[in-house]
Amino acid sequence: MKKIYVDTCSRPYHIYITQKDWNPFIEYLGECVRSKKLLVVCDENVYRLYYPIMDNMLSKYGYKHSVAVVPPGEDTKSLKHANSLYTAALDAHLDRDSTIIALGGGVVGDLAGFIAATYMRGIGFIQIPTTLLAQIDSSIGGKVAVNHPNAKNIIGAFYQPSMVYINIDTLTTLPRQEFTGGLAELIKYGYIWDGDFLEWLEDNIDGILAYDVDTLSYAIYKACTIKSHIVEMDEDEQGIRAILNFGHTVGHAIEAATGYKVYTHGEGVALGMVYETKIAYNLGLIDYNYVRKLIHLLERCSLPTKLHGIDSSILIDKMVLDKKNRGDNIVFILPTGTGKVDSFSDIDINMLNSVLQD
Ligand code: NAD
Ligand code: GLY
Repeated sequence: MKKIYVDTCSRPYHIYITQKDWNPFIEYLGECVRSKKLLVVCDENVYRLYYPIMDNMLSKYGYKHSVAVVPPGEDTKSLKHANSLYTAALDAHLDRDSTIIALGGGVVGDLAGFIAATYMRGIGFIQIPTTLLAQIDSSIGGKVAVNHPNAKNIIGAFYQPSMVYINIDTLTTLPRQEFTGGLAELIKYGYIWDGDFLEWLEDNIDGILAYDVDTLSYAIYKACTIKSHIVEMDEDEQGIRAILNFGHTVGHAIEAATGYKVYTHGEGVALGMVYETKIAYNLGLIDYNYVRKLIHLLERCSLPTKLHGIDSSILIDKMVLDKKNRGDNIVFILPTGTGKVDSFSDIDINMLNSVLQD
């Protein structure tokens, strides 16, 4: 069991990283809920795989829990599904002392967290992330949101959970494409913060791809530590936290332009990192070996590194809607050296166009 303390101003909490055993969860749950009334939110896949374990455990320890099941997929992160969850919360008679547990990937975590942040102006919230992406990124840091048809994550809040409980065994049932998608966010941490971790990833990626438990659990621990540290410094993204969006300006645009159906979020981020690293090269911030290094590592993870058949003008239109933008300029987080990035907002549109067509 590994434990990380996330010392945010609004609500400090622990991340627990464990394998096999669900028992510690019940012990920690008792420490962070105000009453035994809970609503578990999960999607249909996770409901089938993990809700029976959760249900048995919560029943055994006298919790009064209900479950709300939503369809899997990005479309579920909507006001329509949020509304159905408010109804589920009312039907379950949740009150201010109740807690919502997000059991699942980033979609469920973002949606259930949004409900927890807004139902009765905020009730208890716990994350049990079951995808690699959710375990190393979305469950930590309190960004909760739903999408608007025209823009992703545009309706949301910063609302920290009171615990994040990671059981890495859940990754064994994850479809391969979802697992490799999570690896893009793992590689991101090396690029934005820690050149040594990037080197470690290059040396150990085969162990991670083979689900070697020690290697995987170290990688998850390291990623959670980096993310927590950045969130602690800048919980509501007034500055440094924006670096977590490396790969996301282009990545979100690719996801939106393809209707969230072609690429997983992680695959969008992989492509986004490649094109944003190419922009950095074009600006003279890095040499081309650093672009090659990224492409090679992503390819070893079977992640996409080249765009096909998407018009660059459509991508640029989507980028204009990005939340990070200030005024009319598109904001990019770009590599400036090994394990280092910075924010740029004055990118020449002609250069951007030609990089996206490359
Ligand atoms: P997801 O939640 O859609 O899960 C991917 C798929 O895996 C789904 O079909 C789900 O049912 C299935 N699944 C989940 N756990 C499983 C398991 N253990 N075994 C088998 N199947 C399982 O996708 P995701 O990649 O976890 O999350 C993507 C979302 O996260 C996006 O909406 C993105 O915007 C958001 N996100 C948020 C943050 C944040 O800081 N809040 C950060 C990064 C991404
Ligand atoms: N995933 C970006 C953030 O948490 O800030």
